[in-house]
Amino acid sequence: MKRILAIETSCDETGVALWDDASGLVAHELFSQVALHAHYGGVVPELASRDHVRRLPLLVARALTQARWTPADVDLVAYTAGPGLAGALLVGAAFAESWAFARGVPTMPIHHLEGHLLSPLMAAPDLAFPFVALLVSGGHTQLLWVEGVGRYRLLGETIDDAAGEAFDKTAKILGLGYPGGPQLAKLAEQGDATRYALPRPLMQSSEIAFSFSGLKTAVALAAETIGDDPQAKADLAASFQAAVIDVLVAKTVRSVEMTGARRLVAAGGVTANAQLRARLAAELEALGCSVVFPPPQWCTDNGAMIAHAAAQRVRLGFPVKTDYRVMIHPRW
Ligand code: KG4
Ligand code: ZN
Repeated sequence: MKRILAIETSCDETGVALWDDASGLVAHELFSQVALHAHYGGVVPELASRDHVRRLPLLVARALTQARWTPADVDLVAYTAGPGLAGALLVGAAFAESWAFARGVPTMPIHHLEGHLLSPLMAAPDLAFPFVALLVSGGHTQLLWVEGVGRYRLLGETIDDAAGEAFDKTAKILGLGYPGGPQLAKLAEQGDATRYALPRPLMQSSEIAFSFSGLKTAVALAAETIGDDPQAKADLAASFQAAVIDVLVAKTVRSVEMTGARRLVAAGGVTANAQLRARLAAELEALGCSVVFPPPQWCTDNGAMIAHAAAQRVRLGFPVKTDYRVMIHPRW
């Protein structure tokens, strides 16, 4: 039987999870550094690293207590090896490798995006491969063809900003707090999405590619005209959100048509967006393609998705690592 301790520290959340082959997720702990970075309007990498150092031992101890495990119950340590902030990754990787070394158990470095990509399977374990995956986070916007665990083909991705990054930058332009994505989505609920005619970059082209930096510039120009009018601000937020969703949905539909997929998996922080979920579900189901999202609590970064990805790899016989070398790939 495999009992896994998983560590996630790629950005500004410290995530820890314990996973058991028989019962799945048995404990998880998550500490968000939002309050720490809010003052700066974005993640400060050095502060993120330092805080991961402070939190990790405590969170692991708490998870073990929650699961009624002792350290001796763990027989594999999985950790996010990239992509992410180098310093933040280093903290998690060094912690995981040291912990495993002390206990004499192997490790398994995990790709952060694989964690997101497979996370919907935590709630839908019987979902069959192959499927198209839409990965939309703060760092990535990709469409992939997924044939199995570890068998991913990139269909296309963003050529500049990621969708989550566009949400965050636009939120900043509109003077909303950090983290911007959720706040912008909340404001957009009160807005008229048809008020501002914003561009839908690359939407008409047949290639699978995204570009969001021009849209952000268009919002910045429009924002200069709104002054202190709160309704105009909400309308601009709604118009921006609609433009991003239109593009994401159009390219996803195109990928599904191109591959003949019958299933779509959507994951990453931006899939916490209720409007995006509703549009994807409606448009893809009309094409006979079912849509699976991670449960909202697993949309943004967390340790459970890393434990889950490691458990899938173990089940399929992927090799574990026993050299205790700290492995990180910030730009993996
Ligand atoms: O997956 P994630 O937690 O971290 C990365 O791996 O990047 O994604 C975070 C991103 C942020 O850019 C955040 O603004 C965005 O997801 N996000 C949202 C919403 N909730 C989080 N974007 C739009 N609407 C939301 N409700
Ligand atoms: Zn992430």
